[in-house]
Amino acid sequence: MKIEFTNQSAVNIQADLLAVGMYSEETKPQGILAELDQKLEGAILDLIQQEDISGKLKATTLLHTFGKIPAKRLLIVGLGEEKSFDQDRLREVAGLVVKTAKSVKAKKVASILFGLNHPNISEHHVTHSFAEGATMAHYHFDGYGLEKEPSPSIDQLQLIAKDVTDELQYGIECGSAYGVGTNVARDLVNTPGNLMTPTIMAEKAMEIARRYNMEVEILEREEMERLGMGALLAVAQGSEQPPKMIVLKYQGRTKWDDVLGLVGKGLTFDSGGISIKPAANMDLMKTDMGGAAAVLGAMEAIGRLQPKVNVLAVVPAAENMPSGSAYKPGDVITSMSGKTIEVLNTDAEGRLALADGITYAKQLGAARIIDLATLTGAAVVALGSVTTGTMTNNQDFLDDFMKSAKKAGEKVWQLPAFDEYKEQIKSKIADLKNTGGREAGTITAGLFVGSFAEDTPWIHLDIAGTAWTDKGNSLNPPGATGAMVRSLVQMAKHYGKHGMK
Ligand code: BES
Ligand code: MN
Ligand code: ZN
Repeated sequence: MKIEFTNQSAVNIQADLLAVGMYSEETKPQGILAELDQKLEGAILDLIQQEDISGKLKATTLLHTFGKIPAKRLLIVGLGEEKSFDQDRLREVAGLVVKTAKSVKAKKVASILFGLNHPNISEHHVTHSFAEGATMAHYHFDGYGLEKEPSPSIDQLQLIAKDVTDELQYGIECGSAYGVGTNVARDLVNTPGNLMTPTIMAEKAMEIARRYNMEVEILEREEMERLGMGALLAVAQGSEQPPKMIVLKYQGRTKWDDVLGLVGKGLTFDSGGISIKPAANMDLMKTDMGGAAAVLGAMEAIGRLQPKVNVLAVVPAAENMPSGSAYKPGDVITSMSGKTIEVLNTDAEGRLALADGITYAKQLGAARIIDLATLTGAAVVALGSVTTGTMTNNQDFLDDFMKSAKKAGEKVWQLPAFDEYKEQIKSKIADLKNTGGREAGTITAGLFVGSFAEDTPWIHLDIAGTAWTDKGNSLNPPGATGAMVRSLVQMAKHYGKHGMK
């Protein structure tokens, strides 16, 4: 889908579908809608009066134009209350336009720029949010069936604007990058575990690195052994699939300093290992590399946008399987940090992989670390699929991140990290144990991971609930969501502009 500007007017434009917005308080066609109404001989006014057309937020009415204007179909989308319109609503409405256009197999789509000159929305975000929402809603995972029809796709999305400023132009590029990054993450997560092994994920990471000239390093088992990555190696030892420690470096500053480290859990399949999971829904554990996918998706967007910030991506990738060589409950392992860990449940493997990922990120110069993981079922219970759970050892860092997430339109909620919870993960025979029991499961898992960040400012994001949606919505088709990609990119862009301070 190519997104571009056109200076043609809505009444003259030729398209399979033309989208126009209407606020909920409008009782008759105004502005461009009035012009279109005239061409359509008063049909729009009629339909508004019969309450067939409404400006209620996300209401959609699709009309055929029977040759009265060059556009074949007119989509009127509800923008809700004018004073409440903002970039979050704009993003969703743009998604809805694309979703509706796809449903009628429109190839060429034209749309009014919703929210242009609205006090709540900056010029940049008029096109950023539109392009982002449109790109996200256009996403489809094609799957593998011989008889599956490919999903309809839009060739051309034209945004109608008389004066195209640099800000509006850059907004398209920027919003598209956020959307494409999200879609890269979704593809990685939607791909089944047999087709997304640690080896394949490493290849995908190398492709991103090559596209944007980033430095890339893939550690093999032997190098991990030499570096003492006993935690990641323990998780991987039951699988035929070799683990990979995937590293990408994006250098946006002249010196490799003030490095933002992104560490993503890359379990390409999590059977639970010897502490095996029940059969029901185990297939969904192909999504256990959602953290890794978010990190790689963010790197894709960062590569496109080239912010002046240094970003280090570290993905400990492995498959968690039961076998004769698998690690076992009761084992004591030594992590790269030197800290020993008593394994009480082999299904609490993500925190082990992250432990070595974080230690390695620090060694490679990360001054701040954000880790992302589909880490705990308890996060799904607590927050559902709406909100990502977060924790930190540095409130200022998290406050910055929360602002970025809000701007990106992603919901994040902070959980407490009080020292009392740390009692639950103390082991009698090692420095730590890998489960803290049922109580506060998301918090104790987070604190386990955080203990490897030590004094480095650290944010933990548990995306177990948010990386996947069964139902889908206007921006997310059912399946992988690409959660947190946009927030990470927003954070990187913020540091690129203002420095880390
Ligand atoms: N990958 C799972 C967490 C998960 C559960 C993600 C559901 C998405 C949906 C993780 O590795 C895991 O198995 N966690 C255990 C930890 C427990 C054994 C301490 C859990 O949450 O049950
Ligand atoms: Mn597990
Ligand atoms: Zn897992």
